[in-house]
Amino acid sequence: MKKKFLVIVGVLIISINAKSQLPQLGKASNAQVIAAMTLEEKAQMVNGANTHGYDSASSLLLKQAKNLVPGAAGTTMPLPRLGITPAILSDGPAGLRINPKRNDSPETYYCTGFPIGTLLAATWNQDLVQNVGVAMGNETLEYGADVLLAPGMNIQRNPLCGRNFEYYSEDPVLAGKTAAAFVRGVQSQGVGTSIKHFACNNQETNRSMTNAIVSQRALREIYLKNFEITVKEGNPWTVMTSYNKLNGRYTSEDSILISTILRQQWGFKGMVMSDWDGGTNPISQMLVGNDLLQPGKKKSYDTILSCLKSGSLPSSVIDANINLILELIKKTPRFRGFIPSNRPDLKAHALVTRQSATEGIVLLKNVNEALPLKKSIQKVALFGVYSYDLFTAGGTGSGDVNKAYITNLKQGLSNASIPIEQSTEAAYNKYFNDSLPKIKKYNATKKWNQPSYHLPEILPNETDLMTSSTNADLALITIGRNSGESYDRKLQYDFLLTDDETKLLTNVCNAFHQAGKKVVVILNICGVIETASWKNLPDAILVAWQPGQEGGNSIVDVLKGIENPSGKLPMTFPIKYEDVPSAKNFPSEYATEADETKDKKKNVDYTNYKEGIYVGYRHYTTFDKPVSYPFGYGLSYTSFKYSNLKVKQIGDNLLASVTISNTGKVAGKEVAELYSTAPKGKLDKPKLELRAFAKTKLLQPAESQIVEMIFHKSDLASFDESSSSWVADAGEYIISVGTSVENIPTKAVFKLEKKWEKKELGW
Ligand code: BGC
Repeated sequence: MKKKFLVIVGVLIISINAKSQLPQLGKASNAQVIAAMTLEEKAQMVNGANTHGYDSASSLLLKQAKNLVPGAAGTTMPLPRLGITPAILSDGPAGLRINPKRNDSPETYYCTGFPIGTLLAATWNQDLVQNVGVAMGNETLEYGADVLLAPGMNIQRNPLCGRNFEYYSEDPVLAGKTAAAFVRGVQSQGVGTSIKHFACNNQETNRSMTNAIVSQRALREIYLKNFEITVKEGNPWTVMTSYNKLNGRYTSEDSILISTILRQQWGFKGMVMSDWDGGTNPISQMLVGNDLLQPGKKKSYDTILSCLKSGSLPSSVIDANINLILELIKKTPRFRGFIPSNRPDLKAHALVTRQSATEGIVLLKNVNEALPLKKSIQKVALFGVYSYDLFTAGGTGSGDVNKAYITNLKQGLSNASIPIEQSTEAAYNKYFNDSLPKIKKYNATKKWNQPSYHLPEILPNETDLMTSSTNADLALITIGRNSGESYDRKLQYDFLLTDDETKLLTNVCNAFHQAGKKVVVILNICGVIETASWKNLPDAILVAWQPGQEGGNSIVDVLKGIENPSGKLPMTFPIKYEDVPSAKNFPSEYATEADETKDKKKNVDYTNYKEGIYVGYRHYTTFDKPVSYPFGYGLSYTSFKYSNLKVKQIGDNLLASVTISNTGKVAGKEVAELYSTAPKGKLDKPKLELRAFAKTKLLQPAESQIVEMIFHKSDLASFDESSSSWVADAGEYIISVGTSVENIPTKAVFKLEKKWEKKELGW
């Protein structure tokens, strides 16, 4: 027995010695650690959680890593013999997406469902977005993940993109600054972010094969600009390349995009990872510096290993990629020895989501002082299936969050002790009960990324409406839309209202108006819908987006005037879908043109970004196209005056200051939006381009604040393809500061004495 014990101790000492002689990550240099790896280990390090084809010991290690945070999207390869811990990577933009339950534990692991990205952008409040990021980063940390796969920040090129809800805006400055604030917040908790999807993942149809055909100018000014701002102002740990091809090449295989633009020009020092199974050629991906393949396929592992063995993939290439993966791992909480509590403060975070959602809700219409609700309102009649069980807190797919509960509008009203008219509520309760079997059946077979079950609206008959408009003092109607990863939205139904919805709006408005009562419409939507045909019907319209798990409470806080709405649209609401500049070049029923080439289908295999830089309001303002609601638009319960705009040059920066005064009767916040108009020069230019923005503090009635907005001379530049350079012509620039792109109360002129120019490397 004693002999056996001594043998075991001896073996242990030998293996500890062997390990202590091996370079350990963090103690030895990365180069020494990498030099100690076998070729198999190197091929594993650049692949993610793939276990196929690995030896059994490696497979076991990966399985253990994947079990650390069940439901996380991925992990890097652990190598304990070299002191390398796994980095756990987990979605997503509206909060951490992990499994809420585990087989081996009675505990629950719910995460907070925060508002969707679009709502965060609609706050135009970088401090608020940063605070939401802090809360999400804290949950990431406390639940044991190392990198949050967020923010989603592609440009909302077309209202039908299925992932627009995860994204921020049609404008690169608003999208870039919002993403940078988000990144700063999350990373302040000591965990990483992965800004995604770099770049031009602007449609979901055939997303892993389609080719985005985009001009150099549109790329630089629109589709890369937002990423550039976030890289420079947010300093994200990682960047995730997109699924699609860009001008013929997969983004994860494009050395100009990754090496020249992202790293050389913008100075990005972090790691680049692929989207899940993105790209087709792992050797190209390695060569261009797409350091990590997620989740890693057996084929990529085999190809990389055999090319390493034959020498056709130089070790220096893979070593450089592994070096950046190790740099990331060294920053992770897991490597630093942090022990997750699995107990983030969900109550505190529920408050964060409740309050932040109120600030991104946009008031589109408010006539006859319909809102805020008067004290005399005793009872409201609640219409629309989305007011009840179908109320949507967030979108589907990897942007979804497994939250413990969703407060719908009905609950929000009852939490605020606002009685709901009973006959209407009873009709909806019966409808939901009757539909339950259908909903359950759908949910049982529904794929993870498919939208939730859609129940058609019910139409109350004349007698029902007579009862509810007699019993209630006001009607609320919620119109809802949901979407998710892998699918684009459809023109019919997703963008346009259904006939039933139009009838519901018309009938309820008629009945309540005849009874001398008001109607408020709440839009619980993932993206832009048609509003022009029906917006004259109700007295007030609120866009609540998908406001997170406390959504019902947030909406009621705004309805009651506890919070004064200060959100502004981060995109345009056009009159008709046909008005959208990319309408003909985006997958939809509207753009069903014949195939242009024998084997390639337009808007499926490839999409021409023919509108160039004229995306969103750049198009509508320049070509004088009327819209339903313009970019940057949003009303308040109070009013503001703009005065005393000054623009001065400080070195290479421009500092604009403007006084904003609350001229109304209640406290409120205002967003100042600064647009520039360039002098006539060689390049055609949009009429107005957002360059900076700022939000006031809560201004009391009669209170004023001087807000300052700073931007660089180079922000006035456009990209000249003929010289591959950014150019800001000398001359007079009009600086407009307004409350939407169509409402500009104050302007100033700034003279750029000398032409500003900067050569860029590129394709
Ligand atoms: C999505 C990414 C996500 C990843 C991991 C992909 O399908 O496009 O945004 O981070 O899955 O879940």
